[in-house]
Amino acid sequence: MDAYKALASRKSIRDFKNQAIDKKIIKKIINAGLCAPSNNHLREWEFVIVQDRAARLKVIDKIQKKYTQKGIEAWLDSWNSTDSVQRACYLAAVPKQYTMLLTAGCLILPFFRQPGPLLKPKSLSDLNALASIWCCIENMLIAAAAEGIYGVTRIPFSKEINHIKEICKSPEDYEIACYLALGYPGDQAKQTRQRPVKAQEKIHWNSW
Ligand SMILES: Cc1cc2nc3c(=O)[nH]c(=O)nc-3n(C[C@H](O)[C@H](O)[C@H](O)COP(=O)(O)O)c2cc1C
Repeated sequence: MDAYKALASRKSIRDFKNQAIDKKIIKKIINAGLCAPSNNHLREWEFVIVQDRAARLKVIDKIQKKYTQKGIEAWLDSWNSTDSVQRACYLAAVPKQYTMLLTAGCLILPFFRQPGPLLKPKSLSDLNALASIWCCIENMLIAAAAEGIYGVTRIPFSKEINHIKEICKSPEDYEIACYLALGYPGDQAKQTRQRPVKAQEKIHWNSW
């Protein structure tokens, strides 16, 4: 598929068919990730792929399973969200957090080597390792789209992070970037409506 077509077709999907992804395709997607730029020339990235159902259940065990619309609305109000499109996105996505990770054809946990404390950066470049792994993740999402595979990322909450690291037995100096759920879209799956944005509205020639 043409790169621009794959880019344009990428979308977040949270409802999946009960269909595994062939290991060869998983490797192809990860190889696409590994083509991404990295700050220190080393691509210090590792991928834990959780396919076994029992292992998957264990990894996602700390994620809240049930939400009420009222609860999500209250949470959105607490940070003054007034954008109707944004609110609709969260109302659709939040209740799916647990099931999307459980039912995805493939759950990838991308890890990156983080030399210092990730959450105490002193400069922008202290965040280079995190920025680099996200280049890798985006490459994977685009490569997946070229294969007719879609998915979604979720940033783990603090209580989830230690739990995942313990289960995965990841080395001390590695951090997890996100959960990356990939799969074939379910029959009813659809993208949450996004606000359309165009380059001409975003570009500031010479100065803002
Ligand atoms: C850094 C980052 C964190 C995200 N975290 C979550 C998340 O925790 N749960 C979720 O369902 N989607 C998450 N998403 C997906 C976004 O909600 C989604 O990309 C956005 O709504 C735009 O929709 P689209 O991907 O279909 O274009 C995340 C995306 C990014 C880039």
